[in-house]
Amino acid sequence: MAAPSTRCLIGPVPFKDVCPDGDGDGDHVSATEEYGDILVSTLPSVTSHGVLLRQYQGAWLAHHRVPGVISIQRRFEPRRGDVLLASSPKCGTTWLKALCFATMARAAYPAGAAEHPLHRLNPHECVPFLDDLFSAGQEGKLEALPSPRLMHTHMQHHLLPSSVANNPDCKIIYVCRDPKDMLVSLWLFARTILPCEDFSEMFESACQGKVIDGPIWDHVAGYWRASKASPERVMFLRYEQMLLDPVATVRALAGFLGVSFFPAEEAAGSPADIAKLCSLETLKGATGNNTGSTGAFFKFPHQTYFRKGVVGDWVNYMTPEMAQRFDSIVQDKLRGSGLTF
Ligand code: A3P
Repeated sequence: MAAPSTRCLIGPVPFKDVCPDGDGDGDHVSATEEYGDILVSTLPSVTSHGVLLRQYQGAWLAHHRVPGVISIQRRFEPRRGDVLLASSPKCGTTWLKALCFATMARAAYPAGAAEHPLHRLNPHECVPFLDDLFSAGQEGKLEALPSPRLMHTHMQHHLLPSSVANNPDCKIIYVCRDPKDMLVSLWLFARTILPCEDFSEMFESACQGKVIDGPIWDHVAGYWRASKASPERVMFLRYEQMLLDPVATVRALAGFLGVSFFPAEEAAGSPADIAKLCSLETLKGATGNNTGSTGAFFKFPHQTYFRKGVVGDWVNYMTPEMAQRFDSIVQDKLRGSGLTF
């Protein structure tokens, strides 16, 4: 099917509708070779949850994503009105993508409509993942998206180029989660397709900060500080609070993005419709999430992005001693920041 013309469209539109092969299936260029001055293979490394990680500027990045992060730092050109979603893996990225897409695009795609894109597409097919896209040398695809563009990164805040981090015309929405639940979710997710070690081994690495896009405490602290410094530009969300009141979350997202609901939309139940459309139950049952896979480098089946979606599942995988140890490491690292879990 030919890509639809985007000439008259207002963003965001589903990425996959504009670029049918998304961030995955086009020809990859070997981005690694582009960076003769930074030899990715000489960076410190560790293997965790079946992924080779490299330490780059203090962060533990998947080996294959280092070139992408460097490319983003060197040549990503934000547009006025771009919205960047940011998260550590397994903290509610998929949900945040769905909520923001549905909220921002509600004029073109009413949440209650049977033909809403989130019924046929996985949220990761609607909102492009910059890190993989740049690593695969496919960032040119972003040009096809009409503004405002909605995009996502797993990069820590200090890795973002200044053109994004200090851009008054580019908003950032960050979601975090109790790091214990994040770890458990990551381990269960990774082992669906990767040769994952025992949970206890991954836990030991995580205690040293060696987990994908970690250290976890640095990831949250960077966006936390940025949101404190510029609350009008950086929104800091917690997965647990979103679960408590998804409809209030939708309203807060709309307000932050400058697209608050009109009284008529409120009266018609639009915020509740969006929350329902993006709920775990609805997305789990959607056609687009029961077939296909996502990812430029590892192909994760769409259904693996939806599991329990609860708070405190760590209790089924960690002993009280492990939890206490991890909590005290995180607490120690975040001391003085004003952020606690
Ligand atoms: P669990 O593994 O604890 O169930 P990410 O999207 O960053 O990969 O995070 C995945 C986690 O978010 C998984 O947590 C998944 O179940 C949960 N999740 C996915 N979609 C969700 C939704 N619509 N609402 C709430 N949680 C969701």
